[in-house]
Order: sequence, then structure tokens, then C-alpha cells
Amino acid sequence: MIEATEAIELEKETISLERVPTKIYKDAAEASKAVAQEIAKIIRKKNASGKPAVLGLATGSTPKKVYAELIRLHKSEGLSFENVITFNLDEYYPMQPDAVQSYHRFMKEQLFDHVNIAPENCHIPTGTLPLEKLAIFCKEYEAQIEELGGLDIQILGIGRNGHIGFNEPGSLVNSKTRLMTLDITTRMDAAGDFGTLVKVPRRAVTMGVKAIMEAKRVVLLAFGEHKAQVIKEAIEGPVSEKIPASYLQGHQNVRFILDEASASELSSRKKPWLFDEVIWDKMMVKKAVTNLALSLDKPILKLTNRDYNENGLSDLLANYGQAYDINLQVFQSLQHTITGWPGGKSLASDANRPERAFPAQKRVLIFSPHPDDDIISMGGTFQRLVDQGHDVHVAYQTSGNIAVADDEALRFIDFLDDFNTAFDIENKKYNTVFEEARAFLSKKKDSEIDIPSVRYVKGIIRQGEAKATCRFVGIPSSNVHFLDMPFYETGAIQKMPLGEADIKIVSNIIAEIKPHQIFAAGDLADPHGTHKVCLDAIFESLERLKKEDYMNDCWVWLYRGAWAEWDIHEIEMAVPMSPTQVLQKRHGIFKHQSQKDGVVFQGNDSREFWQRAEDRNSATADLYNKLGFAEYAAIEAFVRYHF
Ligand code: F6R
Repeated sequence: MIEATEAIELEKETISLERVPTKIYKDAAEASKAVAQEIAKIIRKKNASGKPAVLGLATGSTPKKVYAELIRLHKSEGLSFENVITFNLDEYYPMQPDAVQSYHRFMKEQLFDHVNIAPENCHIPTGTLPLEKLAIFCKEYEAQIEELGGLDIQILGIGRNGHIGFNEPGSLVNSKTRLMTLDITTRMDAAGDFGTLVKVPRRAVTMGVKAIMEAKRVVLLAFGEHKAQVIKEAIEGPVSEKIPASYLQGHQNVRFILDEASASELSSRKKPWLFDEVIWDKMMVKKAVTNLALSLDKPILKLTNRDYNENGLSDLLANYGQAYDINLQVFQSLQHTITGWPGGKSLASDANRPERAFPAQKRVLIFSPHPDDDIISMGGTFQRLVDQGHDVHVAYQTSGNIAVADDEALRFIDFLDDFNTAFDIENKKYNTVFEEARAFLSKKKDSEIDIPSVRYVKGIIRQGEAKATCRFVGIPSSNVHFLDMPFYETGAIQKMPLGEADIKIVSNIIAEIKPHQIFAAGDLADPHGTHKVCLDAIFESLERLKKEDYMNDCWVWLYRGAWAEWDIHEIEMAVPMSPTQVLQKRHGIFKHQSQKDGVVFQGNDSREFWQRAEDRNSATADLYNKLGFAEYAAIEAFVRYHF
């Protein structure tokens, strides 16, 4: 039960209109610092009153930065964990505590090994007890928490299916700590950690919803666009066992801590004009009008004064006077985004085109985080730029080696082996590398980290595929650059932070090519992901190079990664594709054979990459069509980045 006297006070602040108090931060780093501060405050307060602080902790990618900040507070500000007792939410079952994917190991690596907490004060559900002993274990786990007076704070992440802890959809509000069968979404999301879906355990031991609801304070964190939909459902939807996180709507001292991306589907973000006064700048008008047209299923030019008034846009109407004027302004601005000349059209005026006409032949540098992002996300535009005579370079930022399956690597090693035997080629270095790789792969344990020679093999497989795509699109091999940014080379999902060496590599290629156009992956869907780090390296390089003369002529266009598209109101360049061009792009994507047929990082979307790309590009074309524009087969979309 919540004891009023012990409940940690809510700071006074503006609370949004959602059914759960929500605070939205610029990014995960800022949000995590605030949460770490809150935990530190609880630890200090409890210590001052001579009591231990009882913390409920979560694992997963979300709270990592909170733990990093707690370690920092311990090391540089003397925050002591001597009097801290922790209870983790869950552990896979079965799971050895020292396994790479174990939550026991995670907590040691992310927090416990770096602070002065006594091992006996750290409690994590078991992954090793025999089945028949689990019921007793779970009962005792809850009893231990109760004996200590309950959890002072429970930190939560949220699954894309709405789970908290491993309380999967269907879990009841009074569910106890127990063995739980994992939902397929959860298992698919974990597949990357285990190498493949079949190796993800089917069960886990989790603290129940009841124990979570009894915590005196609950803080749920969610970062990244991939959490946006479930966050909307948990905060704005009905309380339902279908989304266990929605139970938190009934908690008396809860807060959701979000970044901009995870908050992006909330009504207050999607339709801010319904909640507050807004500044009607061009972007906001475009957002409101496209939203209105799509929700009423009417083309923009058919929207009436009444449509505006009846749908919360009377304020906008009052500013402009007539629907006709607003409609026209938005329609034209969208019309001007559409171009078949992504590098500019030198024989026509560029007054209403997204790109400059001159120089007629531009130097173009496409950054591709992985070896297939260029073709998947902007294959049609890539082809047009080449066909329209621009000097197109591609820089593949990382090797992408961890996305190659072991079987695939062995297939290539076999090929090379046969090749070497047949031609009796003496190449000591290569033979050693491949022999070493084969020996490792033949004995590789589940999710053991690949040794450098295996990563090398997997890396050259992906390089070969990228080269094949570039040949197919028609650029010379001298325009293909493999940057192999070092931050990526851990052999694991967890990458190193962006380093000086990475930034130098990216800056050097920009300085070498002096591009008029840069295309980069502006994918923020996964804040921990490779795309974001690759983008940060580009942004930092642009910052460093911006004083160079040639940078005055450099425009930067951002494409989205494989998973999502820009919102229609954000798009600044829309490049249409004909059915033939769509097919050509498909064949370009086919060059990436190692990424076909159930890849290592499939996610919960069973479609192949070419299918995702086609669905997405045709969906964008559909949106333009619904808003009243011509019916294209597909459209690739870009946003301009001003540095
Ligand atoms: C972890 C846990 C899970 C995660 C959730 C989100 O202990 O109980 O509920 O919080 O699956 O995982 P990430 O943070 O990896 O997106």
C-alpha cells in the first residue's frame, strides 16, 4: 500500500492532459539524468532517516543511461549505495546468471560492479531454480519486499506490446510474481540478443503487476519512435489487460518519462492545437491541414470553413479568414516538394523546386549507415541522381557484419576453400583468417561474440553486396567508400560510443569529396541504434567543417531508415517513382542476399526489406494522392537539414 507519509513528493510542474503524469525531455540522455537524480534523492532521503532505500530496477536498453548516471553520481559526487537494497523485475527462465543475455549479468555490468552495493542486497528473480521450487521463490521474493516496507521507487521500461516487467498482455492487475510465457513480440525484440528467435527462452520469471502497483513511486521510461504507439495506448487508451502498462493510469504516484520520439504519437503532439494555443507558423499550418484532410478523407482543396471549425481549427481559420486561402497555401507548398530531379533541374527555374538548378552536375555523397540503407531507403533517388549525370559517391559507414548469419559466413568460407584448393593459390594470410573463422564458427556457443576473423568474413560478405548494388545502379568502384567506423566493431549489439576516430573518418570523406549534396539516414526510431550514431558523426563533422568554403554549397538531405517515413508535413523533397523504377529498386535490394529470408535482425516485421521499402514508398505516394496530388506508384521522401 502507498503510505502517504513516505510517498515521494511530486515536484510542482505543468502536467500535460494525458491520463498519466508525463514529462517529455529533448532526448534520452537528459531524461535519464533526471531519473537518476530522482533515485539519488530517494537514496539520500532514506539514508538520512536511517532506513535503506528499496529500489525496483529494470533491465533492457532503456534504463542503461540511468545506471551510467548513477555510477557517475557515485564516483564523482559520493552517492553511496551502502544502504541500498534492490529488487529487479525479471529474469529469463531458464538462464544461467553468467550468460551474455542474463539479467543478473546485465545488472552487474551496468550498475552493481561499479558502485558500493553489497551483493546480498541485490535481488533478481531466479533463472536457475527447478520448476517445482519457483512458486516458493516467487512468494518469498514478494515477502522480502513487503518486509522492507515496499519499494520506494520502481523503474520500468515498456515493451512494444505494452508489457511492464514481463507481464505480457493478458496479465491481470492483481497478478503475482510468477513464471510467465513470453509473448512473440517480446521474443522477437530479444532475438537480436540471442542471435536468432529460436534461441530466445520461451519463459521468464517476473514480478507481478500487483507488486509494481504497490511501489510508492513508479517511473516508466520510454525512448525512441518504436515505443510511440504503445505509449499512446498506455497513456490515452482504456485501462486494459491488453496493454498492462495502462494499469499505471490507476497508480497514485506515477510518471512517464519520455523523449520527443516516444511522445510523438500522443494527441498533444499530433494535434497540439486541440490542447493549447499554438503558433501558426508554416509547419504547424501544414501539419494541421494535412491532418484534417487525411482524417476527413478529403483532398486539401476540398476542405471547407466548416471542416476547420468542426475539427478544432477555428483558431487557424480566424487567423486566415478563409479555408480557401489556407488550402491553397498548403497545397502549393506540398506541390513544390515533388520533383523527379533530386539533384536539381538545370534547364528549368528552381524558384519552386526543392533543389538548386546549379551547378548542373553536382558532386553527391550518400552516407549509408549499413551496407544496404542506401538502396532500401533511397534506391530510386540514387538511381535518378546517377542517370541524371551527377557524380555520385556512396560512403558505407559500418561493416554491418553482425547482421550476417553464421551459416552465410560458412557458405563463403567453403566457397573460398574450394576455390583455393582448385587453383592451389598460396595466400597465407587469407587462409589463416578463414581457417580461424571456420574453427570458431564450428564450435560457436549461443550468442558468443564473433572473433575478429569471423567479423572480417561477415564484413566482406556485406561489402561484396554493396559493391554489387553500386555496379547495378551504375557508379564506378572508385566512388564506393567503406568507412568501417570503429564504434561498430564490438561484434555485439551494444556498440562503443561515438569516438574521435569515427568523426575523423566521416569528416575526411566529406573534405575529400566536397559534396554539393549529402544524403544521410536521419532515422531516430532507435535511440540506441547504429543509425543515430552514424548521424551524430555526420552532424559533428558538418559542425567542424562548416567554415570551409565548399560547405557553403553543400545541402544536406535526410532520408529515413528502413522502418519509418517522415510525417507528410515534414517532407521537403518527394521523389516519385514509376512502376519500372520500383522494380529496378527491388532488384537493387536483392543484391543484399545475406539480408534476405529471415535475417538476424528481423524485428517483429516478417516482411523482407524490399517489401517494407515498397510498402512504405507506395504508402507515401498514397498520402500525396489522398491529399489531391497525382497518383504515383511510389515516392521517396527527404527532409533538409540546416547546419
Ligand atoms: C526489463 C523488463 C522489460 C523491459 C521492456 C523494454 O527488465 O522488464 O519490461 O523494460 O521490454 O525493453 P527495452 O528497454 O530493451 O526496450
